[in-house]
This record gives sequence, structure tokens and C-alpha cells, in this order.
Amino acid sequence: MSLKQSAILLVLAGALVAGGYLMFGGSVREATTGATSEAGGAPMVSIDLPKSLSAVAQSGKRLFDENCISCHGPNAVGQEEIGPPLVHIIYEPNHHGDEAFQRAVALGVRRHHWPFGNMAPVEGLSREDVALIIAYIRELQRANGIN
Ligand code: HEC
Repeated sequence: MSLKQSAILLVLAGALVAGGYLMFGGSVREATTGATSEAGGAPMVSIDLPKSLSAVAQSGKRLFDENCISCHGPNAVGQEEIGPPLVHIIYEPNHHGDEAFQRAVALGVRRHHWPFGNMAPVEGLSREDVALIIAYIRELQRANGIN
């Protein structure tokens, strides 16, 4: 191999390493802010979707998709390295009643069950809005035997 060829190879290898570093750095940043799901963390649980949602739960789904999906993932299945699933036995009504959801949204949540850090309060939602979101989560939970 000529000197010129080796030099070109070296430059190519360097570019690959730099590219890999940028990609890796990007995903780490995303995981620590936890605020974006563009790339989307992998789902943490696999669930059955209910055959249909009540009208109330459908409104709740819209609000969930606007306000909660970035961390809790589509259909609240969680996202690895970002946020926990809410369709999970931890959040069954007996352990996390509806008021726990209201408090979580209004006041935020101190990290205690998961390694993702604190949840900040979510602004711009009324208690009625949150009640719709709860109805949606409960229907997802019930379709998965979490009562
Ligand atoms: C920026 C990320 C983020 C967003 C946005 C977010 N959450 Fe959370 N949420 C978390 C994390 C992380 C936890 C887990 C805290 C722990 O227990 O370690 C959590 C926990 C919760 C809990 C459990 C509360 C408890 O008492 O343990 C509920 C309920 C909840 N979130 C509901 C919601 C709802 C509803 C929305 C949308 C209105 C929402 N979250 C938006 C990150 C988020």
C-alpha cells in the first residue's frame, strides 16, 4: 500500500470514530434530559391494547400523547433510559390511586421507584385534564390485568 493510500485510510477511520462518538454523545444527552422521544427509548413492557377506548379515555390519550409520551412512551409502556411504564403493577389503583397521578402532574415526582431521576411538574393541565389521562391509563391497565 502506498503512503498516500494509508493516509486516506487513516482519515476515513478517523471520520468513522468521530461519527460514532457524535452519535453516542447525542443519545447520552437525550437520555439524561429525558425530554425528547424523537429517537425513542426502547419500550420497557409489552402490553395488550384494549379493543376500544371509551370516549373519555380517547380524550385522555390525546392529552397523554401531548404531555407524557416523551418520557412514559407510547401507550405508557415506558422508554429505556428515559421514563417508566405506567402500565405496570407498581401503578395499580391500590398502590397509586388517582390522587397520586394528580399529585405527580401538579407537583412532580421525586425519584424513588426507578433510576430515571425526578419527574418535573407538567404545566398547563387542569385536574379535569389529568382525570381524562387517568381514565386512559386505567383502561390500558385493565386490559393487562392490572386492576
Ligand atoms: C420529563 C419526563 C416525564 C414526563 C414528561 C412525565 N413524566 Fe411521569 N414520571 C417520570 C419519571 C422519571 C417518573 C418515575 C419517578 C420514580 O418513581 O423514580 C415518573 C413517575 C410518574 C408517576 C408515578 C408517581 C408516583 O407517585 O410514584 C405518575 C403517576 C406519572 N409519572 C404520570 C405522568 C403523567 C400523567 C404525565 C403527563 C401529564 C407525566 N408523568 C409526564 C418522568 C416524566
